[in-house]
Amino acid sequence: MPGPTDPLLAWYASRARRLPWREDPPSDPDLRAYRTLVSEVMLQQTRADTVIEYYTRFLEHFPTVEDLARAPIEEVLKQWAGLGYYGRARHLHAAARAVWARGVFPRTAAELVHLPGLGPYSAGAVASIAFGEAVPAVDGNVRRVVARLTGQDPAPSSGIRQVEAWVRSRIPPDRAGAFNQALMDLGATVCVPRRPRCADCPLARECLARARGIEASVPSSRTRTPRPLEQRVAVIWAKQGAVLVVERPGPGLLAGTWGPPDGPIAAGESPEEEAVRLLAEGFGVRSRAVERLGCVTHAFTHRRWAVDVVRVDARGAPEARGWTRFRFLAPDQARDEVALSRLGRKVLETLEPRRDAPGPSARRRPRPHGGREPGRLT
Ligand code: ADE
Repeated sequence: MPGPTDPLLAWYASRARRLPWREDPPSDPDLRAYRTLVSEVMLQQTRADTVIEYYTRFLEHFPTVEDLARAPIEEVLKQWAGLGYYGRARHLHAAARAVWARGVFPRTAAELVHLPGLGPYSAGAVASIAFGEAVPAVDGNVRRVVARLTGQDPAPSSGIRQVEAWVRSRIPPDRAGAFNQALMDLGATVCVPRRPRCADCPLARECLARARGIEASVPSSRTRTPRPLEQRVAVIWAKQGAVLVVERPGPGLLAGTWGPPDGPIAAGESPEEEAVRLLAEGFGVRSRAVERLGCVTHAFTHRRWAVDVVRVDARGAPEARGWTRFRFLAPDQARDEVALSRLGRKVLETLEPRRDAPGPSARRRPRPHGGREPGRLT
């Protein structure tokens, strides 16, 4: 007799998203666990479509847990550059070192959860996908799917435990990894937040929220506290086609990543004044603000930055005061040679010719301040 989870697994067999970490699982359990670990840590705060490219490159660079464990953290951060939430890269590196020191991957969620950077969700995902352990892996998507199936908003404090209990009661002992990933895919592609596509859902017949007509309002949306917006300035100091980039010291946001130097704008100061001050205090260099190249925004979990990019003219040799290291690199070189953060990338992009640049006739008009074409490096 078909079990209650069969329609979901049948749906997954034909509709699973094709993702590189799902292709050809290696027969060696440690290699399987390593690949699953890398993908799950990358997926913690990033969408699957974005992770694909990083995952593929990361594994080419560090094919085994030993390769990752032996690498210096700078090399790991370089491979992670652009993916954001760099604490994940540090944790993954530390986890690889712990596994390597131990000689073998922990085989259960209860042990995996002690590795750096793994919470119950990621430990459950690795244990079920790599080792077939019948444990839940409840992320936001799974929470929503189960809330709708059971027609109940998960309680604020014990909600996760309720959802985990539901998964435990349904998870097939011999298909745990497929079951968890089927729930993730269902939440990501069919049982989506605002307009669930119930006509395509293999579990629509048993969905209590749908039976009650409340599928679009369960789970009720959690109101997000607005993230404060902080005003900052980033400084472009260019010398013969190369731009000053610095390694951001830790601990803190973006620690260990590189980009043009930036800092907060004090109340009452202009970005230009702050840029000149930043070079004086951070590098012992006198400078003059030349032009504002644009403003880029960057969002973290608890705050957002609005970063004005100011190009300066400066002479002399910088000395690093408070920054870990610095280099002058052409933007393409910076993208290739250091762990350039996504923010750093956006800041450097303000140097590129603008897409909304005036056409040929407009370009002949004199520029208001007699300045150079925006964005060109000298
Ligand atoms: N999100 C988290 N883990 C995932 C996985 N294994 N497949 C797809 N999306 C995921």
